[in-house]
Amino acid sequence: MEEAEITEEVVQQSGPNGNAKKKIFVAGATGSTGKRIVEQLLAKGFQVKADVTEGSERLVDAVGDDSEAVICATGFRPGWDLFTPWKVDNFGTVNLVEACRKLGVNRFILISSILVNGAAMGQILNPAYIFLNVFGLTLIAKLQAEQHIRKSGINYTIIRPGGLRNEPPSGNIVMEPEDTLYEGTISRDQVAEVAVEALVHPEASYKVVEIVARADAPKHSYEDLFGSIKQR
Ligand SMILES: NC(=O)c1ccc[n+]([C@@H]2O[C@H](COP(=O)([O-])OP(=O)(O)OC[C@H]3O[C@@H](n4cnc5c(N)ncnc54)[C@H](OP(=O)(O)O)[C@@H]3O)[C@@H](O)[C@H]2O)c1
Repeated sequence: MEEAEITEEVVQQSGPNGNAKKKIFVAGATGSTGKRIVEQLLAKGFQVKADVTEGSERLVDAVGDDSEAVICATGFRPGWDLFTPWKVDNFGTVNLVEACRKLGVNRFILISSILVNGAAMGQILNPAYIFLNVFGLTLIAKLQAEQHIRKSGINYTIIRPGGLRNEPPSGNIVMEPEDTLYEGTISRDQVAEVAVEALVHPEASYKVVEIVARADAPKHSYEDLFGSIKQR
């Protein structure tokens, strides 16, 4: 979404159920979480539109006026440019939100991270908070983008997962309100599921949810999980 060209656009359609007409734009669809989101959307009968590269000036065209919602699972790829996290995790997301505003796309799901507001939580000395901010202010960049979404008027769900694992789920999802969790991990499969379920549960609207998985946690429906989070 920054300074490069859109090189390919993939539109896939799948599924026999009522989601078949809903087209979802996935940013970061090539990523480890993004590709799981695409798989789960298709399995649930959504159409998926995936901008597989970049180009902020062409985001409006990429999202298009036929997308009903956007899921953003982008994240900077480590490199030598210390500004990359700020460009991707703040400006890239902001550009996507602005594209949605122009197009009238009124549903936005963002994969963010626990500890984005670590300083306000008294977690400024948390090693994860320090580590992720030393490399390009990553968590602060994500928090800036979150604040932009929350002021945008768009119906958002901001999902803040703990440390991401590629392994299949090994516990049930624990969902807490913003600025609550400061440790824990979760399977990318579960993060993708939460993102897709947020689309179909009105209880997820205008909410920030923090998620990890714990082996001893009871299993809850998504209706109950999202419903348990009170909007501030
Ligand atoms: N790793 C963790 O433990 C952890 C914990 C909490 C939250 N998170 C967050 O969760 C999200 C997903 O993480 P992940 O590890 O699944 O992601 P990932 O595998 O690193 O994938 C990142 C995605 O972002 C895309 N991207 C990078 N720079 C871009 C740019 N300038 N314009 C457009 N797209 C760009 C990548 O596209 P290309 O394939 O083209 O590079 C890729 O599709 C990220 O926001 C991450 O910060 C991660």
